[in-house]
Amino acid sequence: MEPASNFDTVTPVRRSASLAESVHANQQWWDEAADTYQAEHGEFLGDRQFIWGPEGLNEADARLLGDVAGRRVLEVGCGAGQCGRWLVAQGAHAVGLELSWRQLSHSRRLDHKTQVFLPAVQADAGRLPLADLSFDLACSSYGALPFVADVSVVLREIARVLRPAGRFVFSVSHPIRWSFPDDPGDAGLVADRSYFDRRAYVEQDDCGAATYVEHHRTLGDWVRGIVGAGLRLVDLVEPEWPAGHEQEWGGWSPTRGRIIPGTAVFVCVKADS
Ligand SMILES: C[S@@+](CC[C@H](N)C(=O)[O-])C[C@H]1O[C@@H](n2cnc3c(N)ncnc32)[C@H](O)[C@@H]1O
Repeated sequence: MEPASNFDTVTPVRRSASLAESVHANQQWWDEAADTYQAEHGEFLGDRQFIWGPEGLNEADARLLGDVAGRRVLEVGCGAGQCGRWLVAQGAHAVGLELSWRQLSHSRRLDHKTQVFLPAVQADAGRLPLADLSFDLACSSYGALPFVADVSVVLREIARVLRPAGRFVFSVSHPIRWSFPDDPGDAGLVADRSYFDRRAYVEQDDCGAATYVEHHRTLGDWVRGIVGAGLRLVDLVEPEWPAGHEQEWGGWSPTRGRIIPGTAVFVCVKADS
């Protein structure tokens, strides 16, 4: 999910950002932001809970991954591993993959706190250091995919490590959100930019080097990326903002959540070869 604090302190630009620039900037950003991010959002996420987004959709209720017990599951962009730890507690053989060393050190901290241990590897989602056909399931809750320049590279990598008929479920900001200011109040309900503008959201330093990058894809872009990677889209879940849920997360709020979707959860299955 979105930056924990930096939106307030920098003037972002819209421009293209290469694969290497995006990975480099985001690795540094998440290393620096991890402590603040976990302090701000850790309680909502839960130490061993699988939450799909700020609406609070919980995998314990949604069961988008199906039965996980005994399954080999890869969590991509696992952050502090909250989702993966829930999977382990359900009897899955889960592995977390994450770019940021500091996020992984929080994962280790939560392993010891909960006594539920998630094995994890530090790597870029675009270059998985994992064998072909080695997982039954893969998942990602706002991890990695919003941050990479070429999503087809990551989707193909995930398809490669999944066995045939394996499922990949992932959540990202709902693409429609990119047309609106990232404001939790009424100002965030007035579209002020084109949904079709694919330029990345980039925070940069005085020399113009990116310090944080997020990439936008339209719904059609996501579908084409999924299908092009050899996956089949079987559902698109748009979690509604629940009555009584008052907790904001950056630009996600009850005010906006009641009117426009904030999260898109794509449910994919590896097509038979
Ligand atoms: C918003 S967090 C999501 C993690 C967790 N599900 C949560 O909700 O906190 C995004 C995570 O994706 C990771 N990430 C960003 N780019 C990545 C990449 N190219 N490969 C792997 N992880 C990446 C970040 O380091 C960060 O921990």
